[in-house]
Amino acid sequence: MKSIGVFTSGGDAPGMNAAIRAVVRTSISCRVKPFGVLHGYQGLIDGEIQEMNSHSVSNIIQRGGTILKSVRSMEFMTPEGRKKAFDNVSKFGLDGLVAIGGDGTFTGAKIFTEEYGIPFIGIPGTIDNDLYGTDYTIGYDTALNTVVQMVDKIRDTASSHNRLFFIEVMGKDAGFLALRSGISVGAEAILIPETSTYIDKLVDKLRNERKRHKTSLIIIVAEGDQSGGAFEVAARVKEQFNQYDTRVTVLGHVQRGGSPSAMDRVLASRLGSAAVKALLDGKKDVMVGVVNKEIAFTPFSRATKHHNKLNMDLLQLAELLAS
Ligand code: F6P
Repeated sequence: MKSIGVFTSGGDAPGMNAAIRAVVRTSISCRVKPFGVLHGYQGLIDGEIQEMNSHSVSNIIQRGGTILKSVRSMEFMTPEGRKKAFDNVSKFGLDGLVAIGGDGTFTGAKIFTEEYGIPFIGIPGTIDNDLYGTDYTIGYDTALNTVVQMVDKIRDTASSHNRLFFIEVMGKDAGFLALRSGISVGAEAILIPETSTYIDKLVDKLRNERKRHKTSLIIIVAEGDQSGGAFEVAARVKEQFNQYDTRVTVLGHVQRGGSPSAMDRVLASRLGSAAVKALLDGKKDVMVGVVNKEIAFTPFSRATKHHNKLNMDLLQLAELLAS
């Protein structure tokens, strides 16, 4: 293997730059030429491919976002788009590819490898932590800390005004970010897609809290919760229970930005380096992750089809501690 390409795809996540840096520098140390592909799969199609060197990744380990940019490419979903991508892979002489992204990224990688036989290694980069085959995805820890900082601030104002807040956090159709942030901020309730949401039960809980003279209430709502999101739950609760002045905050894309945490920088460095070594070892069609502290490889088909398992004990713990 003489040359490899690296790109980021899907929603960006803090720590992606640290992973790019690790891929580039490990390649150089193994005498492999690293190429950066801009704008994800779309850049493969459009030939936005350039050779990188050690200097190209200087001073980026601490930066959020991705220096290689990210796009969700519709054209790559078509056979014609993938053919153009393959023509560019051949033109630039890339012998293997490293994709940093989530579910959609690895689905694309799997199809491309099946069609053209190019070895692909995936690195899990998403704030959602929803991939099977790794305990944590790059960006999750940073996003979690961002949510906690934001909600702590909301708690201050909620206490000052005796208010009830519904706070919506990201996570697509998974509740990882919601669950751990909810525990960390001492939320009075956490609504996640993995469990059913009963408005009557929630209202009973809020009534009890009122009786106990709670001065502020924080309800964390995962964006993928079956209730339809924070605004919807707030409106439905209000129909039955109106004893608190209520506000809704949707945290939104603030959760995707910022300097990566030390945990994410270390994880990204390990996974970036392991991805290059895996390609050199002849591995393909796998996502590299960390399971029980060790590097582990999972076929794309398993990484994307099975969700990372949510720890239900944590939900029970959250309920116990909020009671
Ligand atoms: O997958 C990461 C994520 O931030 C999800 O949590 C969220 O549902 C989605 O991306 C938002 O995507 P976009 O940036 O396209 O609005």
